Amino acid sequence: MAAPGFSALRVVSVDRDTPEAVLLSLDAGNDPAFRFAHGQYLTFRHEVDGVELRRSYSICSTAPGGVLRVGVKRVEGGAFSTWATSAVHVGDVLEAMPPMGSFTHELVPEAARSYVLVAGGSGITPIYSIAATVLTVEPESRVTLLQVDSTSSSIMLLDDVEALRNQHLDRFRIWRQLTREPAGLPVLGGRPDEDSVTECLRRGMLDTEPDHVFLCGPEPLVELVRKVYAMHGLEDERIHTELFTAAQSGRARTRAQGPVDESVTPIGSGTAKLAGRSTEFWLYDGDTILGAVQRVRPDVPYACEAGVCSTCRAHLGKGTVEMGTTYGLVPGEEDAGYVLTCQAVPTTSTVNVDFDG
Ligand code: FES
Repeated sequence: MAAPGFSALRVVSVDRDTPEAVLLSLDAGNDPAFRFAHGQYLTFRHEVDGVELRRSYSICSTAPGGVLRVGVKRVEGGAFSTWATSAVHVGDVLEAMPPMGSFTHELVPEAARSYVLVAGGSGITPIYSIAATVLTVEPESRVTLLQVDSTSSSIMLLDDVEALRNQHLDRFRIWRQLTREPAGLPVLGGRPDEDSVTECLRRGMLDTEPDHVFLCGPEPLVELVRKVYAMHGLEDERIHTELFTAAQSGRARTRAQGPVDESVTPIGSGTAKLAGRSTEFWLYDGDTILGAVQRVRPDVPYACEAGVCSTCRAHLGKGTVEMGTTYGLVPGEEDAGYVLTCQAVPTTSTVNVDFDG
C-alpha cells in the first residue's frame, strides 16, 4: 500500500536512454489525478534502510494523455537515482504523487506563436514534453530548441527529439551545444556564455521576441539565458524557468514525526487545509511550516526541501513568514500570497495555510 498522499504506479517499461539514464513508463490505471500538463513532474518516494528518499522527475511525454513516462539520470552519489536506474524492473510498483508543477502555460490551439526552449542536460525531460505538446496542440506555432550537454553520448531523449523534428520539419528547429565536443558553428563551441547566447539572438538562431521562453537546467545556464532575454526587453511573464540542482537529488532530512517533548512549549499554532480537510498544528521554535504540519499530516506534499521544486507550495491565508530560497515560485505567486512551506518560517504566532488553494 502507498504512503499517504502517494499512489501505486506499475512500471510498464524500462528503456535504457543513455549509459547513465533510463526512461520509466508507468501505469496509473484510469486515475484522473494522473492526467498531466506539459512541463509537470512526479514526486516519488522510496525507502532505503528505513530512510525515506524523495525525488521529483519531470514527465517526458505529450500532455495531457500521453504515456506517463519519466527520464531518470544517475547522479554521482545519488541514492535514489542509482536505485531507479539500476534496480527498477517491469512489473515493479513505484509510489508517486499526482503530477505537479507550474513550469507550464495555457495552450491556444489557434495561436501562431514562437517558442524558444533551452535545456541543459536532463533539463530536456520537461522541455521535450513542452515541445511535443506545443507542436501537437498548436499546429501554427514554431519551436526552437537549444539543447546543451557535455557529449553526444550523454544526450537524453535524443531519438524522441529527432523523431519530433522529423514529424514537424517546418516548425521545429534544433541547435545543440556540446561542451566537450567540437562544434560545427563556432558560436556553439564550449559552454554557453553571455556573448554566445547574444550572438545566437543576433544571428536569428534564437528568436529575439518569442512569445514564450522555457528554460530548464542547472542554475547558471537558466540564469544566463534569462538575463540575456531580459536585456533584450522580454517581459518576465514570458520567461518560464525550472532549475535542476544538486539539492533536488539529496536525501530527505529525517524529521521528528511524533509529538515534540512535552517540556517544550509551542510558540504558536496554525491550521493547514490539505485534500479538503483542515488540521490544526503547533509551532515550535525554528519550525518551518512544512515541519510543523508534517507532525500532524503525514500526507503533506514535499520533495526537495530546498525551495526549488514547489511540491510544498501553499497559500498563506493568515500570518506572515520569512522564506529562504524561493526558486519554486513563479513571478507573481509570492505577491499573491503563495509560500514554499519548506522554506517558510512563521514570524507571527498564528499561520493558516491552504495546500489545496
Ligand atoms: S519541497 Fe521542494 S520547494 Fe519545498
